[in-house]
Amino acid sequence: MRGTTTLLLLVLLCCRTGFTTNPEIEEEELRARDFIQLLNKKTEEQNNRLTLAHWAYASNITDANLQHQLAVSAEVAKERKENWLEVIKFNWNTFSDYDLKRQFKKYSKLGSDALPEEKLNRLNKITSEMEKIYSTAKICAFDNNSTCDLALEPELTQTLANSRNPEELKHVWVEWRNAVGPHCRLLFEEYVDLSNEAARLNNFTNTAESWLDGYEDPQFRQQIESLWEQLKPLYLQIHAYVRFQLKKKYGDVVSEKGPIPAHLLGNMWAQRWRNVAQFNLPYPDKEEVDLTAELRAQNYTVDKIFRTAEDFFKSINLTEMPQTFWERSILEKPKDREMVCHASAWDFYDRKDFRIKQCTAITMEHFTTAHHEMGHVEYFIQYKNQPVKFRRGANSGFHEAVGDLISLSVESRKHLRKIGLLKSESDDPENVLNNLFQIGLDKIVFLPFGYLMDLWRWDVFEGKITPDEYNCKWWELREKYQGVEPPVNRTDQDFDPAAKYHIIASVPYIRYFVSFVIQFQFHRAVCEKAGQYDANDPSKPLHECDIYQNTEAGNALKKMLQLGSSRPWPDAIEVLTGQRTMDASALLEYFKPLHKWLEQENKKNKVFIGWEKSTKGCVNTKDKAKPE
Ligand SMILES: *[C@@H]1O[C@H](CO)[C@@H](O)[C@H](O)[C@H]1NC(C)=O
Ligand SMILES: *[C@@H]1O[C@H](CO)[C@@H](O)[C@H](O)[C@H]1NC(C)=O
Ligand SMILES: *[C@@H]1O[C@H](CO)[C@@H](O)[C@H](O)[C@H]1NC(C)=O
Ligand SMILES: *[C@@H]1O[C@H](CO)[C@@H](O)[C@H](O)[C@H]1NC(C)=O
Ligand SMILES: *[C@@H]1O[C@H](CO)[C@@H](O)[C@H](O)[C@H]1NC(C)=O
Ligand SMILES: *[C@@H]1O[C@H](CO)[C@@H](O)[C@H](O)[C@H]1NC(C)=O
Ligand SMILES: *[C@@H]1O[C@H](CO)[C@@H](O)[C@H](O)[C@H]1NC(C)=O
Ligand SMILES: [Zn+2]
Repeated sequence: MRGTTTLLLLVLLCCRTGFTTNPEIEEEELRARDFIQLLNKKTEEQNNRLTLAHWAYASNITDANLQHQLAVSAEVAKERKENWLEVIKFNWNTFSDYDLKRQFKKYSKLGSDALPEEKLNRLNKITSEMEKIYSTAKICAFDNNSTCDLALEPELTQTLANSRNPEELKHVWVEWRNAVGPHCRLLFEEYVDLSNEAARLNNFTNTAESWLDGYEDPQFRQQIESLWEQLKPLYLQIHAYVRFQLKKKYGDVVSEKGPIPAHLLGNMWAQRWRNVAQFNLPYPDKEEVDLTAELRAQNYTVDKIFRTAEDFFKSINLTEMPQTFWERSILEKPKDREMVCHASAWDFYDRKDFRIKQCTAITMEHFTTAHHEMGHVEYFIQYKNQPVKFRRGANSGFHEAVGDLISLSVESRKHLRKIGLLKSESDDPENVLNNLFQIGLDKIVFLPFGYLMDLWRWDVFEGKITPDEYNCKWWELREKYQGVEPPVNRTDQDFDPAAKYHIIASVPYIRYFVSFVIQFQFHRAVCEKAGQYDANDPSKPLHECDIYQNTEAGNALKKMLQLGSSRPWPDAIEVLTGQRTMDASALLEYFKPLHKWLEQENKKNKVFIGWEKSTKGCVNTKDKAKPE
């Protein structure tokens, strides 16, 4: 970071040298400096111990591993509480050293470790239990009720992606929810209570407030809402167009003006629709870039997928994966044990050990996920020399955006051609639009889902949604923001939110919405640096930019990543983009040609924009006897 010329950092550096005249305060700050050095060492060791135990359980779900994980969690919580009691003895608010003060501030929050021991153990046990239910759930096949060992990954995911039989899709959609929801219902209620109690012990009013605290911005919720308002017109167009196409394919299963039935969109949660691109393409007679088919035709292996991702990072002067990454990561689903298949990237806090756990299949979706997860690892590596409390994303959205940013280049036609996944040499506008549409089915379509997940949870934590309304309110939001409805009547006896990993695993979700907005901002910035995007030059549109092998772009990105969370996120985003706020204009710019095309097409076909009310999400069962 030294030698940087940005005004911002100069200002920060100058303030850090500000001197105090009170010798007592100065003495305390000197003492604090020694204290924090020791504490950072301890914290690295504790985080390492805890992460190893989590990994052991998540990669091998057994009772023994659970017991071990819970024991280590309890042990570390106790140590953290002791440390915290020392931390708050310092008058850290008066410290003149910016870094030191910021570390103390982060240490002064205790998280769920603030709970009394028994309650903390219970909270940890509940979340592990829900993860186990989710990760080991199995359902029966649609056409063979003696095959009852189908798991979310790979079987159900593949059926949702590939089947075009609405009855089969409905079966898988409903059975998955039945296999998870009811078993998590009571556990989730207890989780909400305990987690709110922990938040209150940290002087937040509830968990929603504590989750939002990480964004260090009291206006954050309003900003998200206003970003969504800017993006909504684009979403409405793609939604209307896809519904129109689906109706042509499925007939009466889809209504002309209603929400789209959620089981027809190629994904268990209807959060990405790319798997149904095939019969939705703007120009069906032109080429369809079916990358899954191409990866298979070219005999891609799991190893080759991850090596391909690594090659991109290396090409822009980011860092290669260490040898231990390849030795310790689990990149294929093990056959001999149960595992949490949900893809994840892990930092073990010793500056050396970084891993990915992913049940990788040879599909386009997993190809993209591999880049996504490796983006996390790249961030870990870039900030590994920061003090341990700064080894986080500038905010959680930044962490989710790194790998996706790379994928935006990878999915350009220029790059697909470069790595041999696109054979066609022609970049006529219709081919380009088909490609942009497919990316839109990932990126545009995700936005309302990425927003509503936490709209629901914020209200749950705030007590605005009570347990007897969990499911109805869930579908109210799914309908309001996404314009989807369930394929069958749902009631408040169901618990559909639990069918999504991040809900039962207690992973906040607004980070993904943030990521989907800022990754386009990052993309615009690196593409400008690479000389591949120019707002005034129509021959260099944003969606055709590929920063592969451009070290200038990579170095600029690296500068931001290396900051970790040592500065509030507006400082970090400014390092890369020159802007200090989240801004939807880059995403809108990227999709401008598609937006225009969708508007014309929908107008031409007199397609209804928006949706009328559905009744399926909440059928009142209050009159009926509740099943035991
Ligand atoms: C899974 O965990 C059990 C302990 O519960 C252990 O005996 C076994 O060796 C582990 N399996 C693998 C592949 O690590
Ligand atoms: C299994 O499926 C067959 C054919 O669909 C059906 O006749 C039979 O009743 C089913 N068996 C069970 C146990 O559900
Ligand atoms: C149904 O599943 C059973 C168990 O997996 C298998 O043995 C059988 O061959 C399957 N039947 C059909 C018709 O696929
Ligand atoms: C919460 O506030 C109380 C009263 O000001 C204080 O004693 C306590 O240390 C605070 N707890 C945390 C975790 O900040
Ligand atoms: C993929 O493997 C098949 C069967 O081993 C082989 O015939 C084919 O040439 C391979 N394709 C490529 C692109 O290597
Ligand atoms: C790559 O990054 C390193 C620092 O991480 C830097 O010293 C080097 O100059 C960079 N190379 C290029 C070609 O920019
Ligand atoms: C779904 O609920 C509606 C009432 O909202 C009812 O009219 C309809 O018959 C139900 N459908 C099924 C299949 O139960
Ligand atoms: Zn991620």
